[in-house]
Amino acid sequence: MHDDLKRYLNQQLDLFGDELILSEEVEKVLVDPEKKLAELKRVIESCRKCDLWKTRTNTVFGSGDFNARLAFIGEAPGRDEDLQGKPFVGRAGMLLERLLKTIGIKRDEVFIGNVLKCRPPNNRTPSSFEVSQCEPYLVAQLQLIRPRLIVCLGLTAAKTLLKVEYTLGQFRQNMFKYHGIDVLVTYHPAAVLRNPNLEKFIREDFEKIKRLYSES
Ligand code: URA
Repeated sequence: MHDDLKRYLNQQLDLFGDELILSEEVEKVLVDPEKKLAELKRVIESCRKCDLWKTRTNTVFGSGDFNARLAFIGEAPGRDEDLQGKPFVGRAGMLLERLLKTIGIKRDEVFIGNVLKCRPPNNRTPSSFEVSQCEPYLVAQLQLIRPRLIVCLGLTAAKTLLKVEYTLGQFRQNMFKYHGIDVLVTYHPAAVLRNPNLEKFIREDFEKIKRLYSES
């Protein structure tokens, strides 16, 4: 608990500067995650830690329920997400929504976010520098939301959170822990759109998500 608190406060310091280390403010941080998430959203909106701010239309904070027991983490906004400022609203998002529907979950009852909050030009894979600059935002989001289960959609999310260099096949065969939270890794919906042979695997994984979610 002590270590968690220390880590949390160090992240606040990193993200917001030392003004929040005042005890009154710290208390607010600890009792009001929604307020903290709103503040974090404002910080992200003006972020210039890597060059992606130059080409973004909007930052994409994430959407859904900030008290969710289940969080889906993708890679980075694409064109539609950049234009609308919302995650997974393009073709990959439609597939994600269909998959959620098959297991009886509505998208607004879960949290949906990404490793990067800005679109990489032409949807290229995020660089390790971009990931390193953006990761503290994801860490803070997950600490504030504290879901019971995190689903990594694709390798970028899995490698960023779990810090192991597995293949997607290896990730899929295991369950992981992220600061005490269960983590499951499945294919990115965009990969399934590119290769329909993967659909049966992602469907299997969503059945597993359904079971874990109902037990959470
Ligand atoms: N792909 C992602 O990884 N995230 C989105 O929000 C959209 C497409």
